Order: sequence, then structure tokens, then C-alpha cells
Amino acid sequence: MAVNDRALFNGVEHHCGAPIRAQKGSAFIVGAFAPLSSLCSSIHPAIRSRGLLRAVFDKVVHCRENRSKSVLITGTTSGIGRALLEYYARSGAKVISVNRRRVAELESGYPSVRFECVDVRSAQDVDQLVCGLAESGQLPEVIILNAGINRVDNDESFLLPAYSEVIDTNLYGVLNFVGPLTRLASVHVQRHVVAISSMSNYVGNPYGLGYYTSKKALTACFEVWSRMYAGTDLVFQQVMLGPVRTAIFTMADKFPAWMGWIKNLFSASLDGTVRAVSRFALTRKKKLIYPMRAFPLYVAMWLGQCLIPGFFQGRRTLDGKTRRADASIDI
Ligand SMILES: NC(=O)c1ccc[n+]([C@@H]2O[C@H](COP(=O)([O-])OP(=O)(O)OC[C@H]3O[C@@H](n4cnc5c(N)ncnc54)[C@H](OP(=O)(O)O)[C@@H]3O)[C@@H](O)[C@H]2O)c1
Repeated sequence: MAVNDRALFNGVEHHCGAPIRAQKGSAFIVGAFAPLSSLCSSIHPAIRSRGLLRAVFDKVVHCRENRSKSVLITGTTSGIGRALLEYYARSGAKVISVNRRRVAELESGYPSVRFECVDVRSAQDVDQLVCGLAESGQLPEVIILNAGINRVDNDESFLLPAYSEVIDTNLYGVLNFVGPLTRLASVHVQRHVVAISSMSNYVGNPYGLGYYTSKKALTACFEVWSRMYAGTDLVFQQVMLGPVRTAIFTMADKFPAWMGWIKNLFSASLDGTVRAVSRFALTRKKKLIYPMRAFPLYVAMWLGQCLIPGFFQGRRTLDGKTRRADASIDI
């Protein structure tokens, strides 16, 4: 970890080559170390080296950032899930990864991770997994329900099978975990249940109706549960995620180039997203909006939908065809 003193005392560290803005708490801790470091420097020349100071700071930040000792993550074969797996595994946490298929290269790369092959759409399999982990005392303290898909299901016509697939994955794929979790006897350890929702809650893409409605329903469920279980061992949290650079299916090529350009401009990096989600999972906060800079974009889109007739309302197909005959014209 390359930390120079100025960055250190500005509360900024660099972790694996990427800048991390330290949280208020760590900035305070760093501040508290400033007089200590100058005292040490005056005592022994060896201590004057940045190495020791860096080591102390690393230890403090490391302890603070990696308090999650165990984590379960769904959908770790790619994108955000995979980046979360890498982050937690590297930090020494016990990781349980839940994927619908086995990926030999991933499993051999992370021998310390326990890989479970479960399709999150199967309520029975998820139930068995959660109950089995609870019975053996291995149910992690952080459960990140990340697996999700996106499809075009509402273009030329409404495609029920595609819509159902998205709802089954993005909504039921999360609710299937919550059922058994809420049935477990309460314990004296906080268990954080983190759903990866989306800013598309605010502005739905009309052509991906399953995605839009699955995330809206997911957000509504987690709002209810976060209030209902407030102060208990079950901490329900959700991340309202804006665009992140992953391989998730998007319809960007079907929209005007400027929309893609603006989206890219407001997109978050995988590294930043992982750090934000892992920090959030250490708190009891109900909601994280990330990256915040994308939020005004969604507000502008929402205003556009309200105020500009036809704006992003799917009145034409993705290929630009008129949807149906104009009902105001007598045929
Ligand atoms: N990227 C963004 O811009 C963005 C924005 C807002 C919210 N999100 C949300 O973030 C989450 C992760 O998205 P991502 O961008 O990282 O997408 P991604 O790269 O496509 O990863 C999705 C992961 O979910 C897994 N998955 C899909 N269906 C599954 C199932 N039935 N059972 C188990 N695992 C399943 C996939 O596994 P396979 O490899 O087997 O398909 C993959 O590992 C999603 O919930 C998404 O809605 C993403």
C-alpha cells in the first residue's frame, strides 16, 4: 500500500493502486496519530521512516475496514459480485460464494473461499443452504444479495417468459434468502442482509420492465424490513446503485450515443463500488446511494419523463418503429 504522508494526513490512502477516501472515523484516527508520529520521530531515527508510520496506519485502517469476518455473496462469477469476492477474500474474511454454475478458474484462484452451487431462483435450494449454514454455526454476519440479470422484455411486445426470468432472479432470488433468515432464532450477533438494488427505481427503462419492477419491489420490501427489524439482530440494508462498469446486459447500443456517453461519465468503478458496499455493510444504515454523482442524472431523467411528452416512455420500439396505429385516427 503506497501511502505518502500528505495523503495520509488528508485522510486519503491508496489501496492496490486505487485511491481510497478514508472515512471520517479513520481521518480522526489519523489525526490522533499525527502527534504520536512526530514524538516517535524525535526519539529514534529508524522510527522516522515512513515505513513504520505507514504500517501503523495500515493496521488501523485495515482493522476498521475489514471488521466483517464472514460474508456470503451471491453471483460472484462476474462484475460486482466477483469484485466483492476478491476484496473480502483478500482481506482475510471467510467468504461463501453462491453461484448457479461452477467456474473452475475462479474456484482454483480462491482456495479459501467456500463455493456453493445454488441457483438463487430455487427457493428450496436457498432454504436448504441457509438452514444448513445456520445449523452448523457458519451463517455469515454479512449476506450480500447481488445476483441479478437484465433483459429486453417489453419491446415489440411484452414477453412474459423474459419478464418472469428477471423477476425470479432479481426479486425472488433475494426474497428466497429472507424467508429462512427471518425464521431463524435471534442471536446476539448483528446479521447484515444487503440487497443490491438500483437507481433505475427512480427512472425505469420501459423496455426492461422486469428489471425496473424487480428493483422497485426489492426496494419496497427492504424499506419495510429495515423498519420492521430495526434494533434487532437482522439489519436490512440496500444499495441504490447507479451505473457501474460491468458486463451486465444494457441496451446502450439501442439508444442515442449521447445517452451512453452521459451514462459512462456518471458510472462508478468496480473498485469504488466494492469499497462503498463493504463499508456500508459495517453500519446499520438502511440505504446507500452510490455513486452519488449519478443521482442528479436520474432526477433529470425523471423530470424529462414527467415534462417532455414521449421522453423515454417507449412509445417507439427500440428499432424506432411506431408502436401501434394511432387510436385517434379513424381506420
Ligand atoms: N452494473 C450496473 O450498472 C448495475 C447498476 C445497478 C444495479 N446493479 C445490480 O448489481 C448486481 C450485479 O450486477 P453486475 O453488473 O455485477 O452484473 P453481472 O456482471 O452480469 O453479474 C451478475 C451475476 O449474477 C449471477 N446470476 C445471475 N442469475 C443468477 C442465478 N439465478 N443464480 C445465481 N447467480 C446468478 C451471474 O452469474 P452467471 O455468470 O451464471 O450468469 C453473475 O455472477 C445486479 O443485481 C444488478 O442488478 C448493477
